[in-house]
Amino acid sequence: MIIVTNNEGHAGIATTAKLLAQGGTSLDAIEAGIRLVEADENVRTVGRGGWPNLLGEVELDASVMDGTTLRTGAVGALKGFLHPVSIARQVLEKLPHELLAGEGARRFAAEIGAEAGDLLMPHARTAWQRWFENEVTEGERERWPEVPMTDLCRRAIDPEIGRDTTIFIGQDKDDNIAAGTSTSGWGWKYPGRLGDSPIIGAGSYADTRYGACACTGVGEMSIRAGTARAVVLYMKMGMTVEEAVYEAVTDMRALKGGLIGRVTIHAIDPAGRHKVVAVNGLPENHYWIWQDGMEAPVSCPAEIIAISEDPTPKPTAHRRYEQMGL
Ligand code: GLY
Repeated sequence: MIIVTNNEGHAGIATTAKLLAQGGTSLDAIEAGIRLVEADENVRTVGRGGWPNLLGEVELDASVMDGTTLRTGAVGALKGFLHPVSIARQVLEKLPHELLAGEGARRFAAEIGAEAGDLLMPHARTAWQRWFENEVTEGERERWPEVPMTDLCRRAIDPEIGRDTTIFIGQDKDDNIAAGTSTSGWGWKYPGRLGDSPIIGAGSYADTRYGACACTGVGEMSIRAGTARAVVLYMKMGMTVEEAVYEAVTDMRALKGGLIGRVTIHAIDPAGRHKVVAVNGLPENHYWIWQDGMEAPVSCPAEIIAISEDPTPKPTAHRRYEQMGL
């Protein structure tokens, strides 16, 4: 069984499903599927083709978790490498650590011979250039990049809203459950910002005994609520997968201030049941599922639950870029 995000996971789910059907491990199948999403330049929120940060640089976050050993591997704010999910996997395989960020992640990627490449594609370069010309004052442009960025960050449009990180959660024929994530995070984020995707327990968690959960959308919310770990813990404490996800939605209602927007919570249990809820979601929030015996993955709508009457930033922001043809 495999569940993946919305449109963003589409490039990879068929491969993941095929590997699982052939008896591959959930971790291998998830890594292989996410690599295809990372390579798809049409996905504007994952890997090559993702939106850049305020400096015009694409910074990538990714993670994997093996629910049988509870080992994890994650990288954050990684620049210049095409497949952060595989570098995260090698953190799990080769290091006595679970998470590397920034320069250390880059060093490790180079050391293991990971594939380097240019991540900033022409559409993203053009969009960033337009933002730079329209939003950055002449004085700031003269001193760039040595300028305060806090206000620029607060004003920046987030083209990710309504689109997604990619998450894969799955179970193999031997019942091993695993999770994987990959994202370029918010467009125009403050340099060094980590979302929930590399934060095990926030953006993903997997435990073969109880199930798995992974989140997309505003990572600031799932970090604050500890969402992925909470959902798996709620299942451990006896809730069904549906009850566990609803409880995590209740946790999010307690968030006051900060950035409140859309989060989609995806969860599975060891018996093959699943639940996907889009908190402050949009009708377009779907997910893909493939289970043993299915000929092909199918797309299903997430249940939408509003927890905020005026989620910010506006969920239509990304459409401005579509209207610009970017
Ligand atoms: N959920 C991905 C992020 O916030 O970066």
